[in-house]
Amino acid sequence: MKVVITKSYEEMSMEAFSVMRAVVTAEPSAVLGLATGSTPLGLYRLMAEDHREKGTSYKKVRTVNLDEYVGLGPESDQSYAYFMRENLFRHLDIPPENTHIANGKAGDLAAECHRYNSLLGQLQRDIQILGIGSNGHIAFNEPGTPFGSETHVVALAESTIRDNARLFARAEDVPRKALTMGLKNIMHAKKIVILANGANKAGAVRGLVCGAVTEQLPASVLQLHPDCTLIVDEAAASLL
Ligand code: PGA
Repeated sequence: MKVVITKSYEEMSMEAFSVMRAVVTAEPSAVLGLATGSTPLGLYRLMAEDHREKGTSYKKVRTVNLDEYVGLGPESDQSYAYFMRENLFRHLDIPPENTHIANGKAGDLAAECHRYNSLLGQLQRDIQILGIGSNGHIAFNEPGTPFGSETHVVALAESTIRDNARLFARAEDVPRKALTMGLKNIMHAKKIVILANGANKAGAVRGLVCGAVTEQLPASVLQLHPDCTLIVDEAAASLL
């Protein structure tokens, strides 16, 4: 794994943006695997600014997202579909039909997992952006998730509910379940860029880079990927 340590969140976002821009300019119909959360917001702001000012086009790009809360649809401002539209897609020229995210409101969740998993098989990602949870999760693959997992419904870990409660009016409002790509789906991407900032990620980052490859720290599977880059700020790198 390549490790890039940056002085700040802004510099981390710039480094990620330069990798993303290289992928999109080399392959205008690239497939991008995207993530939600606070971590990639700086990257998304830079993509929007670059599109606006330099005209980098996303007309032919296709995107797939990592996960979605069960029970929330695109009209809910806590859904990941809403997050992606507001923070990225509406600032680019990407056709909405080229953007894919699992449907958290599907009546038949097993069928939705199957549909999304087949789509991931058809759309091999040129790049996958990841954040990391303080417990070492990637997407919503919580500790103990098998490395061979594909798209599935997950019960969120208590630590994830606590971490995400800051984004909801009340902790009770955080959905308890989500649809998520599995670890095998994530590993299928040609290139992976994982981002982390802040001291609360330092323990997980240490496990990711230097720890045992174990299902107890899902992100550690990335040690087995042939093209994975970790971009971290100094606070998240403090235990390396
Ligand atoms: P965050 O979430 O970017 O909001 O810290 C990351 C994650 O839980 O994967």
